[in-house]
Amino acid sequence: MRHSPVVVAAAIAAAVVLPAGQAGAASGLRDLAAAKGVYFGTAATVSEWNDATYKALGAREANMLTPGNEMKWDTTEPSQGRFNFAPADSLVSAAVAANQRVRGHTLVWHSQTPSWVQNLGATALHQAMLDHINAEVGHYKGKLYSWDVVNEAFNEDGTRRQSFWQQKLGDGYIADAFRAARAVDPAAKLYYNDYNTDGIGAKSDAVYAMVKAFKQQGVPIDGVGLQAHLILGQVPSSMQQNIQRFADLGVEVAITELDVRMTTPSTSDKLATQASDYTKVANACLAVRGCVGITTWGLSDRYSWIPSTFPGEGAALPFDESFQPKPAYNSLYVAYGGTGNPPPPPPPPPGDKTCAATYAIVGQWAGGFQGEVRVTAGSAAISGWTVTWTFANGQTITSSWSAAITASGSAITANNVGYNGPVGAGGSTTFGFLGTWNGTNSAPSPVCTGR
Ligand code: XIL
Repeated sequence: MRHSPVVVAAAIAAAVVLPAGQAGAASGLRDLAAAKGVYFGTAATVSEWNDATYKALGAREANMLTPGNEMKWDTTEPSQGRFNFAPADSLVSAAVAANQRVRGHTLVWHSQTPSWVQNLGATALHQAMLDHINAEVGHYKGKLYSWDVVNEAFNEDGTRRQSFWQQKLGDGYIADAFRAARAVDPAAKLYYNDYNTDGIGAKSDAVYAMVKAFKQQGVPIDGVGLQAHLILGQVPSSMQQNIQRFADLGVEVAITELDVRMTTPSTSDKLATQASDYTKVANACLAVRGCVGITTWGLSDRYSWIPSTFPGEGAALPFDESFQPKPAYNSLYVAYGGTGNPPPPPPPPPGDKTCAATYAIVGQWAGGFQGEVRVTAGSAAISGWTVTWTFANGQTITSSWSAAITASGSAITANNVGYNGPVGAGGSTTFGFLGTWNGTNSAPSPVCTGR
């Protein structure tokens, strides 16, 4: 049992005083997690939050938000001394409005850092790092739960990654970054964050040794982030033990970027394995006092970094591309103590322009096929639509009607033509095409965006 009776009693008391409706069937993971004394978070970007249905899902499920890109150096200081906090500010405001806390991500990293930084000499680079930390941590002083101060500084074998930071500044830059961040915002929890450090191994051993040394030397570190970008069926068996050993050093631990990728398309077997993987991660964190929360790197497969970064892989998140909960969502729901049916996907806010698309192969012959896509408007009328999908088996489109179709490799984009853009609430329209196929002709899952 991870909580003292006092904490449990407080959680029950809090649940009792909630106005009717707030603790009812519509509660998502955030409320269940809070009742267990932990948080559930997601990463999101400004453009993702422009999708009002997705943002509403985020507000229901998450009480912690990590800006997916907007706090990285290439956005916040694109040229020296010229700071741009507007994109991240809008996410922080949205988080405040949704009663979510924010994890700042990330200050010092080898990636998504402008070339002007990478090209500096050692002395200037050290100063630029301090200036950047002063400006960015200063801008958000008192507003953030935590900062991922340094991200991904180790190799798989536990040696230091030979980034431009390491090569020019040597081992000391990490401690210097933590000291600088603490001096600016003493309230933000300062984290070291990395991937493939989820279980015990050479890389997590190296992070462990660094954190232990920091604690002994008085370098200000409060937490270790385990990204947990996992591969289907490969949750490290030592994850709980690994979390525990970090917690025993006196730092908190967070799962910061959880996703579980698979080769696409998904199958019910793969989704079941994924569900059990999510259960293992949630239970590993929940079992250790000091594992303060889990953040998934997005909520829906509609918005995930996986397909573009790992071609042929995807379906890594708890909701599918249409915002329907997957077995993995049910795993989290049950792990956090949810009972009964999980909440349905949230209805789109009034005025939101949504649509759904269904794909059908209406005829198929040696080498060729005819496809049809039906576009159905949601509860509001739309004036136009875009349908996208990815062919998994090398299919091509040779001609089409009732849509303007473009292909970029296997990625297809279909826009309405003039006469079939407007679709009334709940109404539908179709478009079609002729294509080629060879070997396999599996039906893709189209995504519809209305406007
Ligand atoms: C990813 C973002 O999700 C992408 O949009 C971007 O193109 C690349 O970075 N580890 C991290 C995150 O710490 O910042 C990365 O986010 C995913 C891997």
